[in-house]
Parts: sequence; C-alpha cells; structure tokens
Amino acid sequence: MNKTRIAVLVSGGGTNLQALIDAEKSGVLKSGEIVLVISSNAIAYALIRAAEAGIPALTITKKDCGGQEAFEEALMKTLDNNGIELIVLAGFMSILSERFTGHYEKRIINVHPSLIPSFCGKGYYGLKVHEAALSYGVKVTGATVHYVNEIPDGGRIILQKAVSVLPGDTPKTLQKRVMERAEWIILPEAAELVSSRIQKEKEHRQ
Ligand code: GAR
Repeated sequence: MNKTRIAVLVSGGGTNLQALIDAEKSGVLKSGEIVLVISSNAIAYALIRAAEAGIPALTITKKDCGGQEAFEEALMKTLDNNGIELIVLAGFMSILSERFTGHYEKRIINVHPSLIPSFCGKGYYGLKVHEAALSYGVKVTGATVHYVNEIPDGGRIILQKAVSVLPGDTPKTLQKRVMERAEWIILPEAAELVSSRIQKEKEHRQ
C-alpha cells in the first residue's frame, strides 16, 4: 500500500524535522514518507537538514507573496500539486486561517512545547512558552501534538508527554529538555499514527 505523502512545514532550526527524518530511517515512521519540506524562512537551518536527507525543499515567505492570503494560496497550490496527504507543522511560525485549515481537515498536525491547554494560543511560541511556564512556576511541563484547526493550538490532542521543570532551569535549558524528552519522541509517533490512519482510509476507499 502506498505510504502517506507527508510535507513538513518549518521556519527555523528544524530539530523536529530531523526527528521525523530519523524516525523514517529507523522505522518508527513507516506508514508515511516525507516527500517535501516547505520553509517560511529562506535562511532556516531546517533547509540544510532537508538537503542533507535528500528531501526536496523550497521556501515560501509571506513577504514575497505580499500577504497572508496569497501566502496560504501559494502553500495550498504547492501542497496540492505534490499530492500531499498529511501536513506536519514542525516549528512553523505562522498562524493559518480557517480557509487553509478547513481545506485539510484532520490532515494537519502541530507540535507545541507545552501541555495544552497551558501556555498556548496566540503569542505562545518557541522560547516564550518556556519563559511563561517558568514565570508561572509550574513544576511539570511537556509537549503536545494536536490536529490543527482555525483556533491556534485548539485542535484535538493526539499525544502529550510530561517533562519535569528543575530548580535553576532557564527558558533555554527547559526548552532543550522538552525537545529531547518529549517533542522529538511524540512528533514522530503522532506522524505515524495519523499516516497509518490516512493509509487505512485510502485502502477502504479502493
Ligand atoms: C519547537 O520547540 C516547537 O515545539 C516550537 O518551536 C520549536 C521549533 O524548533 N513550536 C511552537 O512554539 C509552535 N507554537 P525546531 O525548528 O528545532 O523544530
């Protein structure tokens, strides 16, 4: 049976993209294959990771497109032309409109560096999430992989993993622990779960 065709959308370092690439190599991700990487930032290190793994990659920026609507239009055109069945947001720093998310219902997943519903939604991204967790004083945080709908970080939760906050943590040390102990584990696992679901749906239709 044909594997689910995955596009990974990135904006930065791409360590979660790397975890997905490694998971495909090790067989943790076996029902889907990463066929495309799209970056919203031309100088993202994620693009180098894609090139090193031999995965076609391209850049689409909001600025070059001239605004959000045209940006989403360009993304959709590229995704559809490439027959993409699952979109993985891996450190993708743009909020997508209902028009976009509705076009790919239950076909977009995102990794977020906290235990949703804590420290999520508009304005909570990257290090800011860990700064907020530390200033609130939580003793446990973690990561969440969820479906993406029109509400930022509001779609159904697929997987979560808790991580301890330790005395003396800084946003950076906490971010590193959450990535290593949660994000890089549950993102590939969730990508496999959803890829396998999509693959089975295709089988039923045939
Ligand atoms: C990750 O921690 C990811 O969870 C977070 O940005 C980082 C990207 O790192 N995403 C968000 O905050 C989305 N709201 P990476 O480029 O190394 O994967």
